[in-house]
Amino acid sequence: MKIIKTIGEIRAISESARAEGKVVGLVPTMGALHEGHLALAGRARSECDVIIMSIFVNPIQFGPREDFAAYPRDLETDAKLAEAAGVDYIFAPEASHMYPRPPLAFVEVSVLTDHLCGASRPGHFRGVATVVTKLFNITRPHRAYFGMKDAQQLRVIRRMNEDLDFGIEIVPVPTVREKDGLAMSSRNAYLSPEHRAQAVILSRSLKLAEKLVKDGVRDTGVIKGEMRRLILSEVPDASIDYVEVVDDDTVVPIERIEGRALVALAVRIGGTRLIDNVTVVV
Ligand code: PAJ
Repeated sequence: MKIIKTIGEIRAISESARAEGKVVGLVPTMGALHEGHLALAGRARSECDVIIMSIFVNPIQFGPREDFAAYPRDLETDAKLAEAAGVDYIFAPEASHMYPRPPLAFVEVSVLTDHLCGASRPGHFRGVATVVTKLFNITRPHRAYFGMKDAQQLRVIRRMNEDLDFGIEIVPVPTVREKDGLAMSSRNAYLSPEHRAQAVILSRSLKLAEKLVKDGVRDTGVIKGEMRRLILSEVPDASIDYVEVVDDDTVVPIERIEGRALVALAVRIGGTRLIDNVTVVV
């Protein structure tokens, strides 16, 4: 496995792979790799000839009061994990190389970004869509792998790919969880042991939502109310950013569940903002 720092080099590698008829897979990440990221790499390994994993903490998707500076960075450990997962090239550019001057061009995906994290993190998805566009243009993959853990991000990228004709196959990969149900996340590293134990409340509240739907509840107000009640009764210090039930395609909140719906939440536990979601089908 090679670590590539420049746009020119990774572009040349991908271009020559394509010219040889090889299938190029891209796994975009911000590093601090965990089993979730490695599942994307494993899926790519099984479907592609050349796997590029980007590791880039993208400044333009963080708000001014968010954790860009504190975000965990450890390229040496990441390289070992990526290599073991079958990655061929890590593309790890410096921010000054990706953004030699403040960018003037951005990619915006509307509607899908109006709610959930789009509402609570203004500009976040513009930063994500823009950097993923750059990564797509730089590496020109046939396939790109995204986790269902970031459900709204997946929908934004999928729509961007369709609307702007990137012609890339976007492959969704199921959420990888810890034994107790906590969705794996680089941000879990911020949690103290006490908060780590409390963090299981996110997946537990989603299980509750699934059970309510299974029991015949269709009114999303009831579902959201029960989820909030469970969270705050078990973790009174938790700060709920949102608990929402949205249409699975449009990411717009719905009042009744008919067909596919996405139940999603963002909760701060001891100051760490965690997200999780589940799709329910009626
Ligand atoms: P990051 O948070 O590092 O996640 C990289 C990819 O791993 C995303 O597609 C995310 O959905 C996936 N992922 C994270 N945790 C997962 C889990 N527990 N199970 C399965 N997949 C998981 O998402 C980003 O980086 C950035 O926004 C990025 C797309 C790289 C653009 O900067």
